Amino acid sequence: MDKSILCIGAGYVGGPTMAVIADKCPDYKVTVVDINKKRIEAWNSDNLPIYEPGLDEVVKRARGRNLFFSTDVAKGIKESGIIFVSVNTPTKTFGAGAGKASDLQYWEKTARDIIEHSQSDKIVIEKSTLPVRAAEAMSRILQSNTKGLNFDVLSNPEFLAEGTAISDLDNPDRILIGAMRTESGQKALKRIVDIYARWVSPEKIKTTNVWSSELSKLVSNAMLAQRISSVNSISAICEKTDADIEEVTGAVGMDSRIGAKFLRASIGFGGSCFKKDILNLVYLCEYYNLPEVAAYWEGVVNINEYQEKRFVKKIIEKMFNTISDKKIAIFGFAFKADTGDTRESPAIYICRWLMEERARLMIHDPKALENAKIDLKDIQGNIEYFEDPYEAVKGAHAIAVLTDWKNFKSYDYEKIYSLMEKPSFIFDGRNILDHKKLYSMGFNVFPLGKPEQTHLSERII
Ligand SMILES: NC(=O)c1ccc[n+]([C@@H]2O[C@H](COP(=O)([O-])OP(=O)(O)OC[C@H]3O[C@@H](n4cnc5c(N)ncnc54)[C@H](O)[C@@H]3O)[C@@H](O)[C@H]2O)c1
Repeated sequence: MDKSILCIGAGYVGGPTMAVIADKCPDYKVTVVDINKKRIEAWNSDNLPIYEPGLDEVVKRARGRNLFFSTDVAKGIKESGIIFVSVNTPTKTFGAGAGKASDLQYWEKTARDIIEHSQSDKIVIEKSTLPVRAAEAMSRILQSNTKGLNFDVLSNPEFLAEGTAISDLDNPDRILIGAMRTESGQKALKRIVDIYARWVSPEKIKTTNVWSSELSKLVSNAMLAQRISSVNSISAICEKTDADIEEVTGAVGMDSRIGAKFLRASIGFGGSCFKKDILNLVYLCEYYNLPEVAAYWEGVVNINEYQEKRFVKKIIEKMFNTISDKKIAIFGFAFKADTGDTRESPAIYICRWLMEERARLMIHDPKALENAKIDLKDIQGNIEYFEDPYEAVKGAHAIAVLTDWKNFKSYDYEKIYSLMEKPSFIFDGRNILDHKKLYSMGFNVFPLGKPEQTHLSERII
């Protein structure tokens, strides 16, 4: 029981995190359960449900030895002394706080399951990202059990980034664990610290009270997203003034107080976390009657939407104010490189707006086509999906780069140019291509936050 770990929720966090714990701690039995049967079947197959560099190898090493995937939630709870809860906590779409607050229904359901199936004391660890003081609610629900059982609720938010999940888990910047200041809470804390201490050095394991831990996760995502929105807001000024965003961020990032990371201009942030976690923070501020603080953080989300819309507006404007019936090849649908995840991807919104203008879309992505089809399934109009980039660009008037996949750089753009309609446009929403070279091939190139390079004369008199 002491060395049996359960994780409820086999998603982007639960799967990789538990695979790494099982890999590093072969003397622990780690079981990951989920109510989604298809997902569990995929975790037990050679075709894992998520794409993450390095994940296949870790799972192969541990699966069947001390790592198990199952749909039997009740059995998992009965047999484990340590339970991580890693279920989804999306933004609420209904009732009070709709559009901002976290929807805690999946999370609360796990509390009910734990009470129902527990026959011994448990340590319950919040891995999901939750509002501050969520552990209090979990604790109250669990302590209402009539079996005389003790539950210690800890917060251990996950900081992995999709696309680098395995290296982030292998070598984290920090492990954060928040515990109650009670004797039993501190004992539970030590047991969880001992697990991470197998491969993480002590100075990187930070222990705090539960509320600081919960808030730190929200703040961490809010600050990262804020950097993106800050740079993106400046990219708009660059385009008006012929300043170059990369030169600006290069200079600004050299200040050691600011640092060079996360200063790339783009069409905006996506992913399942940034927007939802900032809105969760905004809702908390409103709840605690801090309207100025709420407005400050909401601005980060507003700039993100502005940047996505600005990109679409530019495409329309530069293509002679109409894209109706024009073919646009979309390079990249995932919210960032090295993942097939498309949740909250800017590509979803950008493609929808392009379709509203009656464009014809040819979507190409190395890993995200299946998710893209689901995201756009309700759209009427002309959308095609291509594994092969050269098929995607046939007869296209423009290419819009929406994801920073490295392999986009090595495509044969001479060939691509020969396959496209003329004049040919490239809108590089990630600034990853060689703009000078593309221009010299004949493309009209529109980067983000940099002067455009076009063969179109400004004015015909
Ligand atoms: N995705 C990330 O990069 C990331 C990073 C850090 C933190 N987080 C946080 O981690 C949490 C999980 O995120 P995710 O991306 O892994 O979500 P996900 O949607 O990929 O996975 C959640 C899983 O939980 C399962 N689930 C829901 N209710 C259940 C229940 N009652 N019993 C069993 N299984 C249940 C779902 O079927 C789903 O497979 C969220 O709170 C998220 O904010 C995510």
